Amino acid sequence: MSSHARRTPVAVSLLVLLAAASGCSSKSAAPAGPPAPVTSFQPQACGYTVGAVDGFPSFDLHQDVGTGAPKHVRLGLGGQVAAGAAGYADPSTSFAVVWQTDDATTASKIKWGTSDAALSSQSTGVSYVIDPEFGNASKDGNRFHEAHVCGLQPGRTYYYQVGGGAAGAEQWSKVNAVTTAPASTAADPVLIGVAGDTRDNGNDTPLPVWKAISGRFKNSGAHVAVFSGDFVYTGGDQNLWDVWSNASDDTSGTVFFAMAPGNHENELLSYYAHVTMPGAVGKNYERYYSFDYGPVHVVTFDDYDGIITPSIDSTDYKTELLAWLDADLKKADQNRANVPWIVTVHHHGVFSSTSHTDRASERAAMVAAVQPLYDKYKLDVDIAGHDHFYERSKPMIGANPAATGGTTYVICGGGGAPHYTTLSGQTFSAKVQEYDESTQGLYGIVTATKTSFALKAYELSTATGTSPADDTVVDQLQLTR
Ligand SMILES: [Fe+2]
Ligand SMILES: [Fe+2]
Repeated sequence: MSSHARRTPVAVSLLVLLAAASGCSSKSAAPAGPPAPVTSFQPQACGYTVGAVDGFPSFDLHQDVGTGAPKHVRLGLGGQVAAGAAGYADPSTSFAVVWQTDDATTASKIKWGTSDAALSSQSTGVSYVIDPEFGNASKDGNRFHEAHVCGLQPGRTYYYQVGGGAAGAEQWSKVNAVTTAPASTAADPVLIGVAGDTRDNGNDTPLPVWKAISGRFKNSGAHVAVFSGDFVYTGGDQNLWDVWSNASDDTSGTVFFAMAPGNHENELLSYYAHVTMPGAVGKNYERYYSFDYGPVHVVTFDDYDGIITPSIDSTDYKTELLAWLDADLKKADQNRANVPWIVTVHHHGVFSSTSHTDRASERAAMVAAVQPLYDKYKLDVDIAGHDHFYERSKPMIGANPAATGGTTYVICGGGGAPHYTTLSGQTFSAKVQEYDESTQGLYGIVTATKTSFALKAYELSTATGTSPADDTVVDQLQLTR
């Protein structure tokens, strides 16, 4: 079965246009009239540039204009993607926020502080209106705002709200709490939620499985959630994104979402509008990045264009991605004394027991592209979705289970998308769990310290429960070092 949504080569250039439209600055004042649109940004105190992308469009600096209420507030991260370089993405000292308003509201302000009663610091960001491709405009507004906060202390809780607007008619989000990543020397475990494939079949349903999973993430105390793509059925349909955002609004303002696109996002504008992620200054902004979250080095990338679908690789993205991935994994491997665990997150599985035979060529493309790097740098865990079930491989080196070492390949695609059937008896496979999306969902929670990496896979019932303790553990991966 093909799960590909509609796409077009044009989308790649539009992606570049949107990618330019992310950043912030506090230098937004203008004596009269709206400030001139800008094409690059240095978020205040952040040490990185956002939006310096080839083929630059303009985007709008903050103004206290409009009365639109902020909606769908979601935590993200800014920064550069070269590990060790100035401005490298660092969730222990920074966070970013994206939100939506009506098209007329250009207020892009963030206020924060260490107490919810005293949001004494503030900064301003940018916004831009998108024109959805191949789909509906958003009922909740098509202007996307983004602001960044830097210079924070590791492992500390901050409070923030976003908004602004016309004097006397300002609109603000509720105050959210966000806790920065711990210093790598901290002993407390970090919790990472794992999910993917939340889409329905384009029916505009309220995504009850995703709503339940995102609630589990918040209630488990997860600090970050990694997401392997296929958020919505048609990536260019803003209505579907509104539904997805509605289902996770209670979580997305307090848990840092690290997102990678799937084939259903289709390299389209709407996906990039909804994420705030680190990016290399250049043509492929926000498509690959990494960060350290306590003892875990998380690597996230778009594996679609150039690897799965070479025909639209108009930007030679694959070459750029794999050169960066090689450098990033090498640096992470050298830093294992400080950050021992290396995890990759992307969409298309490398090992999978799916019964969909037409996916063999996709897996072969993934194996050829990334597995040599994984083996070379001793990747611990690879997390993908695309196949709608849960699976854990035996530790693998090349095509064979490893006697020692090896990379564990996890498929975690049970976020509500239509279930797939599986083959039994695959030599690489250690555990497979199917599910019924009408009543169940599958997700993971990683608990990691410097000496232990534990991934529990859960099957939830959408009818009952609010936390992982209410759900059934269907698998557990335990790595120690
Ligand atoms: Fe999928
Ligand atoms: Fe997919």
